[in-house]
Amino acid sequence: MSQSSGAAGIESFYLEARTIEPPVGFRERALVADRDIYARAEADWEGFWAEQAAELLDWFEAWDTILDWKLPFARWFIGGTLNVSHNCLDRHVAAGRGDRVAFHWEGEPGDTRTITYADLLEEVERFSNVLESLGVTRGDRVAVYMPMIPELPVAMLACTRIGAVHSVVFGGFSSEALRDRIVDAEAKVLVTADGGWRKGAAVPLKANADVALEETPSIDHVVVVRRTEVDVEMRSGRDRWWHELMADARRHRVPEPMASEDLLYLLYTSGTTAKPKGIMHTTGGYLTQVAFTHKYVFDLHPEEDVYWCAADIGWVTGHSYIVYGPLANGATSVLYEGSPDFPTRDRWWSIVEQYGVTLLYTAPTAVRTFMKWGSEEPAKHDLSSLRLLGSVGEPINPEAWMWYFEHIGGGRCPVVDTWWQTETGAIMISPLPGVTTLKPGSATTPLPGIAAEVVDDAGKKVAEGGGYVTITRPWPAMLRGIYGDPVRYRDTYWSRFEGRYFAGDGARIDDDGYFWFMGRVDDVMNVSGHRISTTEVESALVDHPSVAEAAVVGAKDATTGQAIIAYVTLRGGHHASEEHGQSLRRHCATKIGPIARPKTIVFTDDLPKTRSGKIMRRLLRDVAEGRDLGDTTTLADASVVEEIRARAQAAPSEE
Ligand code: PRX
Repeated sequence: MSQSSGAAGIESFYLEARTIEPPVGFRERALVADRDIYARAEADWEGFWAEQAAELLDWFEAWDTILDWKLPFARWFIGGTLNVSHNCLDRHVAAGRGDRVAFHWEGEPGDTRTITYADLLEEVERFSNVLESLGVTRGDRVAVYMPMIPELPVAMLACTRIGAVHSVVFGGFSSEALRDRIVDAEAKVLVTADGGWRKGAAVPLKANADVALEETPSIDHVVVVRRTEVDVEMRSGRDRWWHELMADARRHRVPEPMASEDLLYLLYTSGTTAKPKGIMHTTGGYLTQVAFTHKYVFDLHPEEDVYWCAADIGWVTGHSYIVYGPLANGATSVLYEGSPDFPTRDRWWSIVEQYGVTLLYTAPTAVRTFMKWGSEEPAKHDLSSLRLLGSVGEPINPEAWMWYFEHIGGGRCPVVDTWWQTETGAIMISPLPGVTTLKPGSATTPLPGIAAEVVDDAGKKVAEGGGYVTITRPWPAMLRGIYGDPVRYRDTYWSRFEGRYFAGDGARIDDDGYFWFMGRVDDVMNVSGHRISTTEVESALVDHPSVAEAAVVGAKDATTGQAIIAYVTLRGGHHASEEHGQSLRRHCATKIGPIARPKTIVFTDDLPKTRSGKIMRRLLRDVAEGRDLGDTTTLADASVVEEIRARAQAAPSEE
């Protein structure tokens, strides 16, 4: 751990005294209105999860063993077989719910599509046949690089239907990021689109993909959805149009029975090194926990609710809570392609009003942005359909929590702050809205069946106070490993504290046992709810021919949670300037994606180092956040920091 703040040094940002009880009207109709569920789950947690698996999902064959646990490898529901697309689609249609809307889709330009469960099933079956016609079989990896259009969930579900493994790459990632992910997964087919709409402009996905495809020998075919109708190059023999393939595809395809532990998908996420990790999720346990959490954390009444998770499917939130959880539960969702301020800053609120959204799930960074835009934007619309609000991705500060509660929820909607990770697959620590007393800024307590503890540096449980968040036993949706790297899996998550999964987060636990998350304690930044590693941005910077050395830290930011601050030393012959800063930002966008552009670049002749030459990031973070410097006695040259501080104050920041 490079951050030198030990457990005792983790400061507690949020000390909130306010509590909010579940509104009476909400509690009366809530699926969970009794706290007994916690004790029942604790008494037999394996049995509890087996009960959920049986109740929430359709299995072709029942399992014979609930859990096999050989740390760090867990296998759930062994012997059981099921199919994810069958659980998300066929069984709802067979039960007479084919006419229920699965997605109210709204494109950024204002075009819309209403997709029922029956429609979705038909598209998924056809695309399953398309994938097979392109040579994809069970176990093959399919890369997906798409905008937020209905074809994206169709492609994912079609993979699950035939037992192929999808690897969705967020559409905001660069060609190089896409290439690295395709290469690591050895994907056979890429599904993409000509482009997608973002703030009124067409994002050129196919053109980006073409650059990646220069160096992806595993890809045999590329399927391209026509969305923006920009000109794209179609390489003959390799590239095919989605609409042409679909028009010719057979209508039916039976769902492949998959073993509970068969690989469902890979999702790459940033770790503490420059190489992203391919997080592996499997079938039965994952679907059980996403269905369970989606149903009970959001108190889903599928016949009446209109649910909207405003994340991008390219991140885990979208996988679990736009695609798999809601569809497994037969929910009706809103799917929106574009930006919240296009054409105006009330776009979301007009969507809530238009579709009568009842459950809204978004990120604190969005809430803080809306705060900045002012409460008059939501006030333009009737938001009275809302009955529950969710938050995910980063700590939500009490002020933003209260604004969300009051100005979006009208003071009547519980706010569920849900803590989880790409690795956990599903929500772990969160209120159950019918029974949990809320404290603005706290994710409250672990869900039934989940065991989490805060520990100190030595791995000893902290009953009250600050420390490291750990999970003390396996859970159904947990990652099964890092693709191709079991050693890194064990080292990253299971070696810091014996017998425990280490999440990489710091939290304070209060006298009610509530968790107050305080952000990452490793070299992972969280910018607008997007996970980026400091090392990844550093290696993008030093890849630039003018850069000799770079150190990157995440500094607190009022809107984005954290902002990327880069300290850069240039090679001889290169000069610091605002323009040069811009070219370095562009370089980061090219290497990783626009989300990796540093907000501030501080050019400096030297970086603060220990005598052994290690960069002291803690000091750089102190400088970036304007704090007095902590212990500087280990610095090789103390004058360096003063110099950097002066330059940091003068450095321009990008909005
Ligand atoms: O630091 C925690 C933060 O986001 C990290 C996980 O990022 P990612 O894998 O991209 O998944 C984001 C969506 C689940 C965590 O290690 N985080 C996520 N949710 C919360 C949070 N921090 C505080 N409170 C949350 N509710």
